[in-house]
Amino acid sequence: MACSRYEYVKGYEQDDRILPNVWIVIRIDGKKFHKFANTHKFEKPNDENALHVMNVAGIGVMQEFRDIVLGYGQSDEYSFVFRKDTDAFKRRAAKLLTYVTSLFSTSYVMSWPKWMQQPLAYAPCFDGRIILYPSDENLRDYLSWRQADVHVNNLYNTAFWKLVLESGLSNQQAEQRLRGTLSADKNELLYQQFGINYNNMPAMYRKGTILLRKRVLQFGQDEQDKGRQAIVPLHEDLIGAEFWRKHPEILGKYVPGKQQLLDEKSLPKLLEQQLTDHMEEKARIS
Ligand code: GTP
Ligand code: MG
Repeated sequence: MACSRYEYVKGYEQDDRILPNVWIVIRIDGKKFHKFANTHKFEKPNDENALHVMNVAGIGVMQEFRDIVLGYGQSDEYSFVFRKDTDAFKRRAAKLLTYVTSLFSTSYVMSWPKWMQQPLAYAPCFDGRIILYPSDENLRDYLSWRQADVHVNNLYNTAFWKLVLESGLSNQQAEQRLRGTLSADKNELLYQQFGINYNNMPAMYRKGTILLRKRVLQFGQDEQDKGRQAIVPLHEDLIGAEFWRKHPEILGKYVPGKQQLLDEKSLPKLLEQQLTDHMEEKARIS
C-alpha cells in the first residue's frame, strides 16, 4: 500500500512498553472529591453507598481485565494489581492506564443511580498513575501503605466528625482538640466521650475493600462443585502475613479462583449482585 508523505509522523510515537517481570499497579484517584462529596451530600466521614459505587466500578474494571489479581479501594481511590507476566495491551503503559482510568470512570457513573438517591450534579473524574514494583515485598509494602492510610485517616475523621456533629465543636475547635493526639488517645476519646469501640466499626471503613477473584460456592453447595467465578469483596487486614497465607494465589503462579465457602448470611451485597446478574444472563441466553 502506498504511503502518504505524512506517514513519517508515526515515527514520533514512543514505545512505552513496561519492562517484563514486574508488578504493575494502577492507582486511580477522584479529582477534588472533597468538593464532590459535599455537593452530593455524602455522609461523614463514610458514606456506605458512595463506597459501594466505588467498589462496583472496581469490580467492573476487574471483570474486563482478567489479569488483575487484586483490587484495593478506600475513600476516592482504587488500586489494581496486574499479574507480573501480563501481556495485556502488550504491556503498553498509556493504553493500560487510559483504559483502566476511563473504564473506572464510566462504570462509576453507570452504577451511581443504583446506589445513590440524588442524581449526579456533574461528571466526576479520576486521575491515574502506574507504579512498578520489582519484588513481592515491595508490592506488599505498597498495599500495606494504602491500608495504613485508611486506618490513620478513618480514625481521625471518625473522631473529628463526632466532635463536630455530636459535641457541637466548630471545625477549628475539633482540629485543635485532636492536634498532637496518638491513635490510643483518639480510641480513648471515642470510647469515653461517645461510647464507641473503634474496633467494632464496620470493617469496610477501617480496612478498605479488597477485591479478589474467587470460585464461589454458595451455601450448601457441594465442595467438589466448581462453583462460579466472581469478584469477592473482602475487608480484611492485609498487612499481616495471615492474609497472604489465606490467599496464596495472589503472589503465586496465578490460578484464578480458590474455592471459598460462604454461608447464607455473610453474602456481601456486591457479590449477591454479581450472582444475580449471572442468573439473569443465563436465563436470557436459554
Ligand atoms: P485531589 O485528589 O487532590 O483532587 O483532592 P481530593 O479532594 O479528592 O482529596 P483526596 O483524594 O486527598 O481525598 C479524598 C476526599 O474525598 C476526602 O478527603 C473526603 O473529603 C472525600 N471523601 C471520600 N470518601 C468520602 C466519604 O465516604 N464521605 C465523605 N463525606 N467524604 C468522602
Ligand atoms: Mg482525590
